[in-house]
Amino acid sequence: MSVTTGLKKLDSILSGGYPENSVILLSGGPGTGKTLLALKFLLEGAKAGEKCCYITLCESTEELIKAAESVKSLNEVKKYLGKNLAIEPIYMSQSNISMKRFVDILSNYPKIDRIVIDDVNKLLMFSENEKAYRAYLVEIINSLKRTKSSLLLCETKSDEILDSGGDESFECDGIVQLVFLDLEEKPMRALIVHKMRYTNFDAKVPHELKIDNMDIKLTETKVI
Ligand SMILES: Nc1ncnc2c1ncn2[C@@H]1O[C@H](COP(=O)(O)OP(=O)(O)OP(=O)(O)O)[C@@H](O)[C@H]1O
Ligand SMILES: [Mg+2]
Repeated sequence: MSVTTGLKKLDSILSGGYPENSVILLSGGPGTGKTLLALKFLLEGAKAGEKCCYITLCESTEELIKAAESVKSLNEVKKYLGKNLAIEPIYMSQSNISMKRFVDILSNYPKIDRIVIDDVNKLLMFSENEKAYRAYLVEIINSLKRTKSSLLLCETKSDEILDSGGDESFECDGIVQLVFLDLEEKPMRALIVHKMRYTNFDAKVPHELKIDNMDIKLTETKVI
């Protein structure tokens, strides 16, 4: 069984969606569409009656609701809030929450079908060093794998660095990258699947991602 991604075209590219109980890294630069795509992923689950949770380390609940209000197909997010869709803001500061505490909180969660953590870079800021951050991230991934949730980790990363692959890239079952492509006419948003375990797909082919008042969706355009 696959887990639907929220984007019909991405489901078809991945022959149904993300692998079950998988950890997907959603990587992209600022403004590429990570948060909207993450909301879409959770709304898809909420509509199907699944338990969904958005752990936000950056934006407030109000800011996320505002983002959902900016695109019509996401307006329904509000309908499920407080029911089977929760937004959980975790305010990290050196004084009140450490990485260790964050891992403890997560490992005590009840079973949740779909979890988003946005954005994991914030965890890096509060780790003692990069090595500790990677170790915590692997711990988070493994503890959520045990709970059989589907986990989407948003990470802000510029294009060039993706291929260098930190530990988290190896631990993740899938890597989806959002980029701005500089084409001749105008810059275009694109989605690229780099890795998806157990799945047959077109690796590294950029697909145009369109965001407007109505929806966020992949178009038929393959950008060569
Ligand atoms: N109705 C809309 N029409 C067109 N573009 C929109 C609309 N709503 C939002 N956008 C654009 O979508 C972009 C992507 O938003 P999103 O917050 O998902 O990106 P992100 O990758 O999470 O960025 P960040 O690095 O800030 O977290 C926004 O920068 C905004 O310009
Ligand atoms: Mg965001």
